[in-house]
Amino acid sequence: MSRILWIVCTASYAYRRYQDAEPLGSRYDTTYLPTETATSSPTLIITSRKGRSRTRLLGGLMDKEYISEVRGDTTMADSLLSRTSEALMGLIDPWLFLKLSASFIPSTISHIFHTRPFLSALRIVLFSPSRFREAWFGQFWSVAGPNVRDGAKMRVLPLLDGRTTGGRVVDVSTGPGIGGVVIEIGAGSGLWVDVFSNRHLEWKCGAGERTAGEGEGKEREERENGVASARTEITRVYGIEPNPAHHHALRHAVEDAGLQGIYEIVPVGIEDLSPSSSSRRKKWDGSIEPGSVDCIVSVLCLCSIPDPRQNIHELYELLRPGGRWYVYEHVKVRYSWYMRLYQRFLNIFWPRFIGGCELCRPTEQTLRETGPWAKIDVAQVVEEPWYHCVPHILGVFTK
Ligand SMILES: C[S@@+](CC[C@H](N)C(=O)[O-])C[C@H]1O[C@@H](n2cnc3c(N)ncnc32)[C@H](O)[C@@H]1O
Repeated sequence: MSRILWIVCTASYAYRRYQDAEPLGSRYDTTYLPTETATSSPTLIITSRKGRSRTRLLGGLMDKEYISEVRGDTTMADSLLSRTSEALMGLIDPWLFLKLSASFIPSTISHIFHTRPFLSALRIVLFSPSRFREAWFGQFWSVAGPNVRDGAKMRVLPLLDGRTTGGRVVDVSTGPGIGGVVIEIGAGSGLWVDVFSNRHLEWKCGAGERTAGEGEGKEREERENGVASARTEITRVYGIEPNPAHHHALRHAVEDAGLQGIYEIVPVGIEDLSPSSSSRRKKWDGSIEPGSVDCIVSVLCLCSIPDPRQNIHELYELLRPGGRWYVYEHVKVRYSWYMRLYQRFLNIFWPRFIGGCELCRPTEQTLRETGPWAKIDVAQVVEEPWYHCVPHILGVFTK
């Protein structure tokens, strides 16, 4: 009985916190957060129809609780209750993400009918689930993607600068940053394209980052501490992106970053890069020679490729000896049997709503087994809590 009472109290407390939650930046100065405490989880700000409740999802509450603890304005009971509510929110958040994705179905249908002849649009909506899913994910990611990027940039930018080890970001260089010939897998709508601009040779945060208070503060702090980027010049980037719904935005991102002539959009999936692929020639005339690539960057995309073992092996072959594969991917839960079970249950729905993204992939293991690797410095992000249904790995494989 007391357990039921506890669950009801906690649930109602969690619900109240959920209603009260605000975007982090609106009340707190996030630049005071040490790196270890910042969450890597995808974050999302939703404004309700009434325009009142604004909620930062998938990790936002965790940040907020942490800050209030640092400020010393929580009691022990409050802290215990809030931690439990965090855990509950951690379990509920992915469902809200799915709900958000579902809310884009009507606008996707409307977009398809506005941009195509009626019969062709009808055919896609009624008889072509894969093309509909591409269009749907394109619509969804144009809104959710920038927020996910905001949550991930505190890890991804240092990763590409060669400043991660053991699944955490550090202030010293632990290896080379990206440079030379680069493959960006699953470039999406180009949210990371500016990162490949050589402006980042000087300082990692480009103009876009500076507008986001957090990036600005961190950048200033790092400059004062003498944390420099270990990058070399990027001479070529192949942005692999099969979903045509992203190409328009991706092209714009390339132009905005001044990367014309350096960044080439490759409009096929990585399974079609291999010279033996029959469909490749129809869609892309170029080729990437085995052993010619200095760096591969994969950010939240190996969850969507069709045959991880085979595709990852083919990409491995493209890397030169000494080449590096920078990884920030979400992976299968490892913590406990009940979270594994929960993730599997969630994964019944997740790929259908999130563009074919699979939650339960053992991506780190697949990459390790693809070797031989000369060096591996990849681990699960250390500060992610046990109730994280979408845990990440972070680090670099060196061939
Ligand atoms: C979750 S999105 C991430 C996009 C981007 N990396 C970002 O962080 O904004 C996953 C991306 O992988 C792409 N993708 C799906 N199948 C792929 C394949 N076979 N080869 C390469 N990319 C693929 C999707 O089209 C999508 O753009």
